[in-house]
Amino acid sequence: AIDIRELRNQTGYITLDEGYANTGSCCSAITFIDGEKGILRYRGIPIEELVEQSSFVEVAYLLIMGKLPTRAELQAFSNALTRNQMLHEDMKFHFEGFPPHAHPMAILSAMINAAGCYYPELLRPEVPNHFEEQAARLLSQVRTIAAFAYRKSRGLPFVYPKPQYKYAANFLHMMFSHPTEDVELKPEAVRALDLLFLLHADHEQNCSTSTVRMVASSGANLFACAAAGVCALWGPLHGGANQAVIEMLEEIHRSGDDGRKFLEEVKSRKSGRRLMGFGHRVYKNYDPRARIIKRHCDELLARLNRTDPLLDIAKRLEEAALQDEYFVERKLYPNVDFYSGIIMRALDIPVNMFPVIFAIGRMPGWIAHYREVVESPTRRIYRPRQVYVGPPLQHYVPIDQRG
Ligand code: ACO
Repeated sequence: AIDIRELRNQTGYITLDEGYANTGSCCSAITFIDGEKGILRYRGIPIEELVEQSSFVEVAYLLIMGKLPTRAELQAFSNALTRNQMLHEDMKFHFEGFPPHAHPMAILSAMINAAGCYYPELLRPEVPNHFEEQAARLLSQVRTIAAFAYRKSRGLPFVYPKPQYKYAANFLHMMFSHPTEDVELKPEAVRALDLLFLLHADHEQNCSTSTVRMVASSGANLFACAAAGVCALWGPLHGGANQAVIEMLEEIHRSGDDGRKFLEEVKSRKSGRRLMGFGHRVYKNYDPRARIIKRHCDELLARLNRTDPLLDIAKRLEEAALQDEYFVERKLYPNVDFYSGIIMRALDIPVNMFPVIFAIGRMPGWIAHYREVVESPTRRIYRPRQVYVGPPLQHYVPIDQRG
């Protein structure tokens, strides 16, 4: 048997693995990925089965509690989400402080942290923390905050959540209803958004989840950890890629290129541009989430009676890339972000809200990982090592002797 204490106390050797490509940071029982085969399972259940038979809220329960709920458990969890969906009224003043052009991811991160301030028990470990209520509160309120961030950016009055609406429907209601008239919620649109949330719900030790775990390891509270996760997710190499993909496709569309010129530019590497929505640290095969989303793009557009020229460009780009030596050699396939923006465009979600949708979807995963860290019997602060490459010993030179 491995003596973990013995291993921990060994010093003298440091493994250098920039970007942690092959370094395990923890043991986790939440999500399984086989990147070579393109397999993704939440708590052992294949993503394809969950897409066909489950819902985002049930999957959130599965990830956070570790098992599928009974009917009564699911109802209790849904009730907890409804009970916690309203923000404290004073939160409105925080929204007012942001400039109109503020990116909704900045608002989301700041407001999640602000929301945590209304629950001082989060900072008092001696008070029973009621983790499950805090988890439901965060999962429910992130949706309200996200919709309010959008309304604020448009100068529109806030629309409050309604208890009779389910998770995804409530979000669309808060985004698009008029204060005096509810928007018509099309079932196919609600289902498509629920599907996107579900497909984003967890993805083991990605950048934002590792950030959440890192912050949690220091003992910071759940809301603070989630706010840090949003910041990590925002970058264009991670959750910001869905926005970057649509901006790339729009640029190709505007230029009249069929995608070929753009691919040549990527391959030449002169401009440093990448084919956004392609490539993945773990998947060296087709990302199973991308496969599902691609199929649903066609179905949703047909049901909504819409077309989108960007979908045609995306498909052409994929076809060309998958036959191109550059992408084949490097095993670069579409990832979750390549087609998700097409669905969000069809739902009239503005492009700067795309990473926010990702963040809402990822919240159950972050909460489950937070829980795994704080409940681990071998919990220890995350503290990677480094190899120092700076100057050797040198002495301080007073400012008037520095030339
Ligand atoms: N377009 C062109 N070339 C690429 C791409 C791409 N999208 N992705 C990787 N490459 C190339 C790299 O230039 C590198 O080539 P080289 O070995 O000749 O130098 C090789 O493929 C390996 O790439 P790395 O950057 O080392 O791979 P890494 O695992 O560090 O990065 C990442 C993974 C960040 C996802 C990368 O593929 C990328 O930038 N993709 C585009 C952004 C994107 O879609 N991000 C979303 C990822 S999914 C998610 O976070 C939800």
